Parts: sequence; C-alpha cells; structure tokens
Amino acid sequence: MPAIDFTLNGKRQSVDVQPQMPLLWVLRDTLGLTGTKFGCGLQLCGACTVHINGVATRSCGTPISTVAGKNVTTIEGLSADANHPVQRAWIEVDVPQCGYCQSGQIMSAAALLARKANPSDADIDQAMRGNLCRCGTYSAIREAIHRATRYTGGSKVQSGGAE
Ligand code: FES
Ligand code: FES
Repeated sequence: MPAIDFTLNGKRQSVDVQPQMPLLWVLRDTLGLTGTKFGCGLQLCGACTVHINGVATRSCGTPISTVAGKNVTTIEGLSADANHPVQRAWIEVDVPQCGYCQSGQIMSAAALLARKANPSDADIDQAMRGNLCRCGTYSAIREAIHRATRYTGGSKVQSGGAE
C-alpha cells in the first residue's frame, strides 16, 4: 500500500493507511490531531470541517486518497497562537457554549473570510448553513464574523498556515 503524501498545516505529511479511510479518521486517530471533531460522520453537521486547498471541506466524507498532493489545514494550523482574525473575534464575542461544534464553525468562517472580505448577513448564513450548533450560538457566530472583518482591514484573510 503506497504512502499518501500531502501538506498538513504547512508541513509535509506522509501516511500509510487505507486509501478510502476518511481524512477525519487519519487526522484524529493516525496523527493525533483531535481539534477536528466527529459529529455525524455523514457530512451533515460540519463539526469535522477543515480546509483543503483553502476550501471548507467535511473531512468525514473525504477519503484520504483524494487529498494527495493537496494542502490541508486544521484548527491546529489556522494560526500559531490563536491570533487569526476569526479566533480573536470568537474569543472577544465569547461564542462557544459546549464548544463541540466550534472548531468546524471557525474553519468555515475562516474560509468565508478568505474569499470574501466583508460578507453580508446573507453571505454568512449561506456559508455557515452546513455547520450545526446544538447550543444555538448562531447569532454570536454571525456577530463574531462581522467583528473579525475589523482585523482584516477589508482584506481577505489567509485561510491557514498551509495555503
Ligand atoms: S462529522 Fe463530518 S459533517 Fe458531521
Ligand atoms: S457550542 Fe455546543 S454545539 Fe455548538
């Protein structure tokens, strides 16, 4: 079984696993990066969201073979010390409640701001609609995304260390 090579949080990574294994499993079980969460396993909740080449992607439904040669960013790689504009805003607005969905929420928000510097409420609702929160933090999430734009100066932000 040939190794699968990709870039993870800015560093080259090689894994020797079954090609159909979901990226989420590889991240959590093979590589020990547990910031990305398992929610439904069916691409329905968004808890497992990571960036693949800068695009918010459900890692539970992504076979590891499909990320060969690509850039993967997880919540651990979004910034060196939680200073990504989205993370700063999340802390200031105090968004999380139980926290379980939040790394997926942050990754989707970061991907949005990487392609749209000043999203409208409608843009936010559209981009975030696949990320569910049982605690109902949706209004705080929207507020935090608007707040994050203050730190970007109207510019798109990097979606992570690997892009
Ligand atoms: S765990 Fe991947 S979308 Fe729910
Ligand atoms: S903060 Fe609890 S599920 Fe979202």
